[in-house]
Amino acid sequence: MKRMDALILGAGKGTRMQSNNPKVLQTLLGESMIGIVAGVLNEVPAVHGLYAVVGHKAAAVVDELDRISKNLSREITWIEQKQQLGTGHALITAMPKLKEASHLLVVNGDAPLITAEILEAFISKAQDADIAFLSLELEDAGRYGRVMRNGGKVTAIVEAKDFDQGRYGLLADAHEVNSGIYLLSMEAVNNLLPELTNANNSGEYYITDLVSLGVRHGRDVRGICVGNIEGEGSALLGVNTPAELSAAEKMLQERRNNKLLEQGVILHASELMRIGPFAHIAPGAELFGPAEIYGMTEVEKGAVVRSHCVIKNAVVHEDAEVREFCHIEGAEIFPKAIVGPFARLRTGTVIEENAHVGDFVELKKTRLGKGSKANHLSYLGDSSIGENVNIGAGTITCNYDGTHKFQTEIGDRSFIGSNSALVAPVHVGRDTLIGAGSVITEDVPDGMLALGRGRQVNKDHKR
Ligand code: UD1
Ligand code: CA
Repeated sequence: MKRMDALILGAGKGTRMQSNNPKVLQTLLGESMIGIVAGVLNEVPAVHGLYAVVGHKAAAVVDELDRISKNLSREITWIEQKQQLGTGHALITAMPKLKEASHLLVVNGDAPLITAEILEAFISKAQDADIAFLSLELEDAGRYGRVMRNGGKVTAIVEAKDFDQGRYGLLADAHEVNSGIYLLSMEAVNNLLPELTNANNSGEYYITDLVSLGVRHGRDVRGICVGNIEGEGSALLGVNTPAELSAAEKMLQERRNNKLLEQGVILHASELMRIGPFAHIAPGAELFGPAEIYGMTEVEKGAVVRSHCVIKNAVVHEDAEVREFCHIEGAEIFPKAIVGPFARLRTGTVIEENAHVGDFVELKKTRLGKGSKANHLSYLGDSSIGENVNIGAGTITCNYDGTHKFQTEIGDRSFIGSNSALVAPVHVGRDTLIGAGSVITEDVPDGMLALGRGRQVNKDHKR
């Protein structure tokens, strides 16, 4: 094998999913199917270039591929299949872009449960064949492509729609089905593709017809059967309906959590932990279900995430604690910081060491310095807050004038009295004290006490 590229077939609409979104953008544990498949292919060292065929709502799929590519060591090149005339047609459409490969690993984009191990085992058995595919055994061949053999030798894959009991007779009992994973020699494909037709009950060009074509031309055609994979077989076969999506998601979740447990992550109520395939949880981290931890989140050793949190694309450093019911996206939490319960950290937020964020506090694009506290009922947006600052309950940074956003800066060791409004842009110096209930519209120099409120007047009143 000179060079093996990988091709994901992801142009189909996925009618059986009943959704307006392309099927390959349906998510499991917060990641799209096509993203998960690309991630798995990226883990296979023998794969050189990554390609994907897109078609139905191509722009949305391309956006997702671009997003995913950023986290992979390989770029994904996409090819548009304007009309979805079948999986064989998808391959025909991709061929002009695949000139450099000697071999092509083709994977259906709706098979998010494939693993690098399965692919590697398959490649090692398939690499010197002309046309090879991975098959497995099922109780019921259902809607899958059935593998036909004669004296053990593969003769064809017959799609469910074209399966004729009368014609195939006893083979109707066959339980071996095509998984939708292929390893193809480009030389063989180049020679066979011109003979591919759509003369079948779907009127589609089937990639699976390469099998019978190859056999007819005396090529080395192999069906590499992995037998009956307990429980996971049908899931490996791809997701076509909401019920299959739900089952596959459950399997992925279980597999993910079991692996994390084996590696030494402490999971409580693991059946209620939904940890995305790209999230990185270090051994020695402790997580409590139910929780959702998605995207490129990293949780370091010794960090604790308590129950009912939703965390996406965030970093929780060593020995930080996220208490119950937090919503965290695109934020970084440094060691020994405490967040929550009931906190919301939005994109661009940094909570430095030993800082505390308490209940009903929302931070956006805000740095909360070392040892600083914002413990109750605050909104801190577009702010830079120094060290050992106390943000009193109910403090609001008024960062938006209806058109533009402005910055608030608060210096080290300042004390912002409760229920203060800091009208940005505004700079509050170090060691300042802001009286409770102030509306601060002007900068406060270092060390000053600022009062921005009406003075209290006590008057007689008649009973
Ligand atoms: C396919 C196989 C079947 C196999 C099954 C395993 C064919 C003809 N049949 O059937 O033998 O048992 O997978 O799951 O291949 N796609 C395109 N362009 C198209 C049509 C489809 O890119 O014109 C993509 C889809 O987005 C999908 C993949 O190809 O990701 C497979 O298509 P799908 O319609 O799901 O094929 P199945 O009927 O499941
Ligand atoms: Ca399918």
